[in-house]
Amino acid sequence: MGKMTGKTAAVTGANSGMGLVTVVELAKLGAHVVMICRSRERGEQALEQAKKQSGSSRIELMLCDLGSFASIKAFAAAFKQKHARLDVLVNNAGVVSLKRQLTADGHESQLGVNHLGHFLLTHELLEPIKQAPQGRIVNLSSGAHKAGKIHFDDPTLSKGYNVVKGYAQSKLANILFTKELARRLADTHISVNCVHPGAVATNIGVDRNTGFGKAVHRLLKPFFRTPLEGAATAIYLAASDEAAGLTGHYLIDNKIVATSSKTTNPELAHRFWTWSEKQVGLT
Ligand SMILES: NC(=O)c1ccc[n+]([C@@H]2O[C@H](COP(=O)([O-])OP(=O)(O)OC[C@H]3O[C@@H](n4cnc5c(N)ncnc54)[C@H](OP(=O)(O)O)[C@@H]3O)[C@@H](O)[C@H]2O)c1
Repeated sequence: MGKMTGKTAAVTGANSGMGLVTVVELAKLGAHVVMICRSRERGEQALEQAKKQSGSSRIELMLCDLGSFASIKAFAAAFKQKHARLDVLVNNAGVVSLKRQLTADGHESQLGVNHLGHFLLTHELLEPIKQAPQGRIVNLSSGAHKAGKIHFDDPTLSKGYNVVKGYAQSKLANILFTKELARRLADTHISVNCVHPGAVATNIGVDRNTGFGKAVHRLLKPFFRTPLEGAATAIYLAASDEAAGLTGHYLIDNKIVATSSKTTNPELAHRFWTWSEKQVGLT
C-alpha cells in the first residue's frame, strides 16, 4: 500500500462496519481522515475507536445525513472551509431497508441514500478532489446489483416494494454512476471505481432504532468476511500505487470483474445520470 502522508481522505458511513476499518487503515498509512457520519453520538464513539486502533490523531469527525440534500450541502460547505484539497473519497455509507421509507427529499431511502446522497456529495466535493494530484473516488456497490433495475417509471417503488428491489436498484445505481463519472472525468487526474466487498459481517440491515436484524447477523457471522477483509478492495483502490491507473471499473478481491450489459450500457448510464442530476437539483 502506498504511503498517504500529506493526503486527505474522506469516508462516508465511517462509524460502522467497513467504513470504520477503512478509516483506521487509511490513518495508519498516514492520511488525514475525515469521518463522515450522520449521528454525532455514534460518530464520536467511532472517532475514539479509530484513533485508538490506528494510533493516529489525524482523524476528524464531520456530520452529514446522506438522506438530506440540505445536510449534504451544509457538510460540503463546512468541509471546503477547512480543506482545499481531497485526495480520496470513499462513498461507503449504505442502508438496507426492509420497509419502504422515504428520505427528507422524498426519495426511496436506499436509492436516496446509497446513490443520490453520494451523487450530490461527490459533485459538491469535486472542486477539492480536482486539487489533488491524483484524486480517487471509490464507491461501495454490491453483487446485489445483478438483481437490479432502474425503475424510471416508479423510482420511489410506490408499487410492489420489497427490500431486494430497492437495494438492488441502489447498488446498480452505484455502478452506473461509477462508469458515467469515470467517462466524464476521463481527461482529469481523477479515477473512479467501485467494488463488491463480499458478504461481510457488519451492521448492514440492522435497524438503528430497534436493533431488529442483530440476531440474524449473529447467526451468519461465522460464514461472513470480517469488516477488514470486506474493506480490503476499497482500501486497495484508495491507497495502492498499483491501482493508480484504474478507472471506471468494478472490482472484487482487488481484481477487475466484467459486469453485465446493463451496467455497461452508456445510454442507460447517461439517462440515469440526467435523471439523478434533476433529482438533486443540479440542472
Ligand atoms: N455487509 C455486506 O455484506 C455488504 C455486501 C455488499 C455491499 N455492501 C456495502 O458496503 C457498504 C458498507 O456497509 P457495511 O456493511 O459496512 O454496513 P454498516 O455496518 O451498516 O455501515 C453502514 C454505514 O452507513 C451509514 N449510513 C446509513 N445511512 C446513512 C445516512 N442517511 N447518512 C449517512 N450515513 C448513513 C451508517 O450510519 P449509522 O450507523 O448512523 O446508521 C453506517 O455508518 C454499503 O454501501 C453496503 O451497501 C455491504
